[in-house]
Amino acid sequence: MARVSEEPIDPRAELAALVHGWRREVGRRRFHGERRPAAAIELVPQPRVAAPTAKPAAAPTARPVAAPTVAPIAAPAAAPTTSGTALPASIAPGCADLASLRAAVAQCRACALCETRTQTVFMDGTCSSGVLFVGEAPGEQEDLQGVPFVGRAGQLLTDIITKGMGLERSAVAIANVLKCRPPGNRDPAPEEKELCTPFLERQIELLQPKIAIALGKHAAHFLLRSDAGMSQLRGRVHRRPGARGELKVVVTYHPAFLLRTPSAKKDCWQDIQLAMREIGLALPPRGAAS
Ligand code: URA
Repeated sequence: MARVSEEPIDPRAELAALVHGWRREVGRRRFHGERRPAAAIELVPQPRVAAPTAKPAAAPTARPVAAPTVAPIAAPAAAPTTSGTALPASIAPGCADLASLRAAVAQCRACALCETRTQTVFMDGTCSSGVLFVGEAPGEQEDLQGVPFVGRAGQLLTDIITKGMGLERSAVAIANVLKCRPPGNRDPAPEEKELCTPFLERQIELLQPKIAIALGKHAAHFLLRSDAGMSQLRGRVHRRPGARGELKVVVTYHPAFLLRTPSAKKDCWQDIQLAMREIGLALPPRGAAS
């Protein structure tokens, strides 16, 4: 990296400046688990070669300092340590396949949900039908079993896939916006979504689905980069630009909402049929769907 001065390098100040730059790049003041740094680091823009005082260098400790060195890795399973704070945005793009992405997710400690989760929930199924379902975040059962959509809402999703679409559950891929359960099944926080979604982004690139079906507003807002209401987003096929070309997206209700609002099931079925038609999946015989 080019330096702005030929002065002798103080390695601690160098590291502090590196961390500062990294913070600014990802738009965060501190990372999960990091102690509050000295005001000079947090508030004052640091030159690339900082004043060689001991305080700023000591404040971030070894945790954030370790992260930039593991960021551009291609073998992510080895990258983030259990005490590290390597971020999904740095790790996910370097994951060459789903197995290494799953390993990176399992080791993620980027936000506070790593403290309360039983385990991460990566995905279920395959994309052999071309369909990817995207939900919100694991619930209690998913957190315990490590598999998405296995609780009550999951049973309804399974019915939609098997009875409605006439597919094996394993023929569709099922993933979530967040890979860890928010305590008490609260809504995902904006910061959690921002930190976690590079994993889903990479998952989509690796799965290459023909269509993604967003289950509820959190998935819809991530996939469509929009905060419009469900009524505006449902009922049509969206096209999401991506690194590997356009992804078709259809938005429908979250199965948990359908459990509370059974009258919305018919609208959901319309959305599912729209998605199936769009990618040429045969609709099951009349009456097969409930
Ligand atoms: N709800 C979700 O959004 N995802 C799950 O995995 C389970 C319930």
